[in-house]
Amino acid sequence: MLRLGVLGSGSGSNMQAILDAIREGRLDAEIVLVLSDNPDAFILQRARDADLPTALIDCRGFAQKFPTAAQQETAAALQAAGAEIICLAGFMRLVKRPLLDAFPRRILNIPPSLLPAYPGLHAWEQAVADGATESGCTVHLVDDGMDTGPIIAQARVPLLPTDTPATLHARIQIEEHRLYPEAIKMVAQT
Ligand code: GAR
Repeated sequence: MLRLGVLGSGSGSNMQAILDAIREGRLDAEIVLVLSDNPDAFILQRARDADLPTALIDCRGFAQKFPTAAQQETAAALQAAGAEIICLAGFMRLVKRPLLDAFPRRILNIPPSLLPAYPGLHAWEQAVADGATESGCTVHLVDDGMDTGPIIAQARVPLLPTDTPATLHARIQIEEHRLYPEAIKMVAQT
């Protein structure tokens, strides 16, 4: 059975979607460790409710940086848990070496945009502000750039004339929750 590690900073709805796919038999996997850089993140509560092992990533007081020592500790914790594929699920720090080197081509991310359009933060807000006609989400392999790694799968979401950033993001998240488990399966088969 595929062993997954999950990193998240926020609500953890994508982790929940992966967990639901496992429970419903759509994904033959188990989540072996959930890590967060934010002690108050709801993803940790969701994980505890599901009896999943959790741990905090100590980013040494940096608000945005993912310090090298913290990346080394994260890689060690994931390796000790036997994780084979790492899913970034709303994880808000840029992953670099040495974490990348510990799991080459095995770290996935799900930004809320049709990459290469709108890499980085708050992509749905930019799509609405620009009057874009469509948006969506992308699952890609993480490399050392900002949302630049090879694309595994995408889902398109049309923008409606009445969309606000919040309504668009909500519809993108519905697609994220469907797409992420499918993309994990695709990567596991390669
Ligand atoms: C998701 O919409 C995801 O696309 C986005 O954060 C949200 C996390 O939601 N990720 C990024 O912006 C990555 N740069 P969740 O915590 O409920 O899964």
